Amino acid sequence: RKHYAVFGTPISHSLSPRIHAAFAGQSGIDLDYVAIEAGADDFRAKLEAFAAAGGSGANITLPLKEAAFALCRDSSERAVRAGAVNTVIRNEDGSWRGDNTDGAGLVRDLTERHGLDLRARRTLLLGAGGAARGVAPALLDAGIGELTVVNRTPQRADALADALGEPGRVHPRYFGDIAAFGEFDLIVNATSAARGGGLPGLPRALVGRRTAAVDLSYGEAAIPFLAWARANGCHDAVDGLGMLVEQAAESFALWHGVRPDTDAVFAALSGRAA
Ligand code: ATR
Repeated sequence: RKHYAVFGTPISHSLSPRIHAAFAGQSGIDLDYVAIEAGADDFRAKLEAFAAAGGSGANITLPLKEAAFALCRDSSERAVRAGAVNTVIRNEDGSWRGDNTDGAGLVRDLTERHGLDLRARRTLLLGAGGAARGVAPALLDAGIGELTVVNRTPQRADALADALGEPGRVHPRYFGDIAAFGEFDLIVNATSAARGGGLPGLPRALVGRRTAAVDLSYGEAAIPFLAWARANGCHDAVDGLGMLVEQAAESFALWHGVRPDTDAVFAALSGRAA
């Protein structure tokens, strides 16, 4: 039996153990997958203890994705571009290899589950932390149009735009100027504002005829932004539950070489019949 875990804080309500148990059940793979509470101060020690106890792989979630990237021996190209790691795989020598399945999970959820054509969509990315970094490269690769990045702390938006390396296509802007941005076809909330003081006000002028609003979080944390989206006429309002299931499936495939069926698991988690 192999051992897996998800590290982050707060972690007690994480759905990942349930998702991986369901995938394992489908594929007949014998594994356990637990949630381990860890913050910036004790993440390294807890990951080392997990490795010493025979851990084979882990997911890394808020707020540790950038820290995880820093402590991996090597990382996939998409993790390097994101500067953030959500999946670690144990190397033969005991070190960790980092990958990031968030962006691929988001794109798969939006295009396949929700039927959204992302090509040429003018996109607004709210936030420039680990979650935003994880998804931005995959959105660009999926063919979105221009990408505008805004963040409460402007330096982080600048840094993310620089890291993405497409200056003609990616534009960092100030939150304070948001009233003058015009319309977007895709608005992605990658902030953790709902867990803190709430997002600064978003003007209705951001919303166009076919705007899709996507929150990378799910459950209560996604409610304020998606309520704004519905109240302001967004065509689609999508939470991060599907992305969560899809990124888990990508991680599962990396660890076990088997791609699980995500529809049944998504249906069960969203309270719908499979
Ligand atoms: P995550 O992995 O969720 O991205 P993070 O790296 O701590 O976690 O980033 C959180 C993001 O939410 C950041 O973009 C943060 O803005 P700052 O870089 O200015 O801190 C954003 N954020 C958090 N609380 C916010 C709030 N109340 N208003 C606006 N943005 C907020």
